[in-house]
Amino acid sequence: MKNRVIIGGQWGDEGKGKIVDSLSAQFDWVARYQGGANAGHTIMRGDEKVVLHLVPSGLLHDGVKGLLGGGMVVDPWALKEEIIELEQRGFSIRDRLVISSNTHLILPFHKRIDELAEDKLTRKSIGTTGRGIGPAYMDKVARSGLRMGDLLLPPENLERKVIEKILAANEILASMYDADPLPSASIAQELVVLADIFRPMITSSYEVLAGVRNGSESIMFEGAQGVLLDIDHGSFPFVTSSSPTIAGAISGTGLPPRCMHEITGIFKAYCTRVGNGPFPTEILADEGEELRSLGGEFGATTGRPRRCGWFDLLAARYAVDINGMTGVVITKLDVLDSFSTIKVAVEYDCNGEPTKMFQTGTDVLPACKPIYKEFAGWEKPTTACRTLADLPANARKYLEFLEEELGTHIIGVSVGRGAEDMVWTPEGVIT
Ligand code: GDP
Ligand code: IMO
Ligand code: MG
Repeated sequence: MKNRVIIGGQWGDEGKGKIVDSLSAQFDWVARYQGGANAGHTIMRGDEKVVLHLVPSGLLHDGVKGLLGGGMVVDPWALKEEIIELEQRGFSIRDRLVISSNTHLILPFHKRIDELAEDKLTRKSIGTTGRGIGPAYMDKVARSGLRMGDLLLPPENLERKVIEKILAANEILASMYDADPLPSASIAQELVVLADIFRPMITSSYEVLAGVRNGSESIMFEGAQGVLLDIDHGSFPFVTSSSPTIAGAISGTGLPPRCMHEITGIFKAYCTRVGNGPFPTEILADEGEELRSLGGEFGATTGRPRRCGWFDLLAARYAVDINGMTGVVITKLDVLDSFSTIKVAVEYDCNGEPTKMFQTGTDVLPACKPIYKEFAGWEKPTTACRTLADLPANARKYLEFLEEELGTHIIGVSVGRGAEDMVWTPEGVIT
């Protein structure tokens, strides 16, 4: 069985959760490799909606084992809540989930600093999810963060370490933000209690992934966020603090590139972005509102309305190229069913200079004006389609154009929220 990496190709929320759910039942492992509870991955089980923030989406299938990789930042309070909620809904999690001892912890002051830093930036705020992601990665890079492995310490040592950390954070809260201190002793005690829950799950990912390295076990890597939010390759500074791209899958699990056989990008048939930052193909008029309401474009984590726009071919080709995607899935095609015209950005006008190269420069991207190619819509429902032949001719023309321009196969087209609402096209859409 070929291992597969699932990567969000745009600004997140492409429908990764649904696709991971559709493709993961046969894998031995599903691993998250970066990010934290800023992610919100939605899966429909009949009419029931499950939104996962930290637990890998593949764990909704019995028999699949889950890994929270060392590249993640995990809020133990949020993880406990998510596990309990899933178990109450009938999914066994604790016996199938392992956590790398290298995974960094998000503590309450990270979330507090995340909120306060956003307030301070005001006009230039990033519009983070407020989950403490940036400050936790700052602690990691500063080599001062606490890790899951610390929860294995004797309780008194853990307590001391947490108190020291919170006292240091309280100084930052006071000096930089004029904010009240957090109660170090009670937080440390809560963490000692949480450590009892997580101790049996914390492990060396090097050890547990031996079967993946020798080829006796298979793995799916579940990316969170998307390429354009990558700390290195995204629209900096309006990005997240981790690496959703292929490099993150390597460093965030410790598995070598030879374990990554298929690299599958997930792209919406249009584009959305939640939070601030440049978005060349954003539609500010009524059509944007129409996409938002037809696509239900509200954040799965924060409930914020997502900004909506047309498919950006330059950005998508960039995502395919820098990750070496071996195939892509196009989701939410059905959301375009009622549009009479569908646009795709095929070029940018950057200060009078035409370009087909995606630009990530802080000052360049906001100045880029998209040049569109227009397609006649299909104006027919697609949700019941299950084969390429079922899709309206104009929908096929649109998909064929994307496949040709992206230079890689479209291996699936999602036409509705349900797991069954899929047209699988392993040989691509150009026949
Ligand atoms: P993720 O973060 O990439 O997993 O995506 P989210 O779950 O945040 O957002 C995707 C939203 O689109 C969810 O509400 C999904 O249920 C929904 N969705 C996924 N695929 C389709 C599709 O093909 N059609 C429609 N209409 N909705 C979809
Ligand atoms: P999934 O996995 C969409 C965005 C935030 C903000 C920026 C930085 O569901 O696709 P952060 O809290 O990470 O410091 O915020 O990144 N963002 C996402 N947008 N989907 C996500 O995850 C996101 N996770 C973070 O809105 O603009
Ligand atoms: Mg999401």
